[in-house]
Amino acid sequence: MYAITINKYGDVSNFSIEENLDLPQPKPNQVLVKVHASSVNPIDLMKREGYGRTIFEKQRKDLFPWILGSDFSGTVVDIGSKVRGYNIDEEVWGCTSNANSGTHAEFVCIDVDELTHKPNNINHLEAASLPYVALTTWSALVRWSGLRPNDLKGKKVFIQGGAGGVGCFSIQLFKSFGCEVATTCSVKNIELVQSLGADQVIDYDEQNFEDILNNFDIAYDLLGNSVLDNSIERCCSILSKSSNSHYITLTHPLVNTLDSRGLLMGVPHALYLRQKQKSKYRPINIHWSIYRPSLSGLEQLTQLVEEETIKPIIDSIYPIGELSKAHEKIATGHVSGKVVIDHKI
Ligand SMILES: NC(=O)c1ccc[n+]([C@@H]2O[C@H](COP(=O)([O-])OP(=O)(O)OC[C@H]3O[C@@H](n4cnc5c(N)ncnc54)[C@H](OP(=O)(O)O)[C@@H]3O)[C@@H](O)[C@H]2O)c1
Repeated sequence: MYAITINKYGDVSNFSIEENLDLPQPKPNQVLVKVHASSVNPIDLMKREGYGRTIFEKQRKDLFPWILGSDFSGTVVDIGSKVRGYNIDEEVWGCTSNANSGTHAEFVCIDVDELTHKPNNINHLEAASLPYVALTTWSALVRWSGLRPNDLKGKKVFIQGGAGGVGCFSIQLFKSFGCEVATTCSVKNIELVQSLGADQVIDYDEQNFEDILNNFDIAYDLLGNSVLDNSIERCCSILSKSSNSHYITLTHPLVNTLDSRGLLMGVPHALYLRQKQKSKYRPINIHWSIYRPSLSGLEQLTQLVEEETIKPIIDSIYPIGELSKAHEKIATGHVSGKVVIDHKI
């Protein structure tokens, strides 16, 4: 089979197309999928450069070649002996968290709790744009913040950086829960985020959101301090000073801390940093969120797409042979929706 691999960490010049890799064999709890489309997320760029090596190197059978990519949409070609509920040629979608199962490949083995049947009202390219960003937000709300959709009706939610992959999904999700949504973006993306339902849109080149917004219940910070100085400070300043307020950041310092301090020292240091932040902003709840797989989340997503509550937003589509251009597009930091990879060759 073919795949796009890296043989060392670094820039996009390290990508190579390998044509004669062995076909992976599904374990008893896996499904072998022929990938029709995948997508690129900012974390793929970071992994390519060596981010998270403390964790991901422990998980990989072989260090290199490494196949990146986690979203996929495709068809079932083989089924592990313990898997029930799938047939050959059925269309499936999902997102893998398995460092040995990168989806920028012709075929990939997927654990049965990381895929489900694809919604039949969208095509493979559209489908590959959603699972990772959707389950990131699902994890952020349900797993890390302990919030349930029913608790969110009427809440005022600020999404910091609403025009990218996670933002375009989240605006639609929060609106479907009955929230009032404010978000930031550049001028070119104002119409896009409004079309997704954002009630208040702030052009970050023209105004500071904290001069305009106040008494919000939730700040979902998709940028964090890596893009914006004092992002947590600024987001918390618009929240009600209440134990019902939540600041949720996707900039989780644990992985960086593990990379810089090692497993033994990294975990206590990250816990110390988190405790410090929690004390500083009390009574506001501070949550650090990181993507976790969730089959129930994926099934809910399938339903939301089928009933057209959520629609895929695609910035651009690149053929698999041009994965490096897709990485360069994400690296601009200014996409409108998702960058998708077409596996048709
Ligand atoms: N913790 C986790 O598990 C997890 C999971 C997924 C993503 N993430 C992180 O979450 C972030 C967002 O991910 P993504 O997939 O949505 O990224 P993305 O698709 O690359 O989108 C980035 C967006 O940021 C916007 N932006 C850039 N500068 C901005 C600013 N100063 N103010 C407001 N918006 C700004 C851009 O909009 P304009 O073009 O309008 O500027 C662009 O649409 C990334 O940092 C990613 O690493 C973390």
